[in-house]
Amino acid sequence: MINGKLEEAINEQINAELFAEYFYLSMYAYFERMNLQGFKNWMNVQMQEEHAHAMGLFEYLQNRGGKVVLEQIEKPKTDWSSPKEVFEDVQKHEQLVTSKINALMDIAEEVHDRAAVSFLDWYLKEQVEEELNVGNVLKTLNLICDDKQCLYMLDKEMAARTFTAPQIG
Ligand code: FEO
Repeated sequence: MINGKLEEAINEQINAELFAEYFYLSMYAYFERMNLQGFKNWMNVQMQEEHAHAMGLFEYLQNRGGKVVLEQIEKPKTDWSSPKEVFEDVQKHEQLVTSKINALMDIAEEVHDRAAVSFLDWYLKEQVEEELNVGNVLKTLNLICDDKQCLYMLDKEMAARTFTAPQIG
């Protein structure tokens, strides 16, 4: 049976991952309004990743005999001034998720749950990847893309991103 404190923390993380999915869905809607189909595709892939992250924790908690408790999902922001501002928010959000996963890992260590530590290690590595991906988009937006033509070119690149269901754990 999983430790109660860890169970609560995993439930909080499920909520955080579902919020991330919701947040990126709101960005997806923004890019639809902007008619930036490639950026919209990027967000669609990101949303699916977040859903997979949430479900990975959901299934893990159930497999360990824990109780999944779904809480209310916070309302996400709906408007941005530019794609750059969107990606600044994505970066901030992913940094926040990384700190949450680290805190979750701290709890798993504190309660001496080595199986959970090992499972959560996948999430920590995933966060390195996530921060790198968003950092690369932001770098292009910051350093290169300050005109509409460049945004159009970047939009074409963003259209190439595809979703592959992650093998969690
Ligand atoms: Fe599931 Fe982007 O963190």
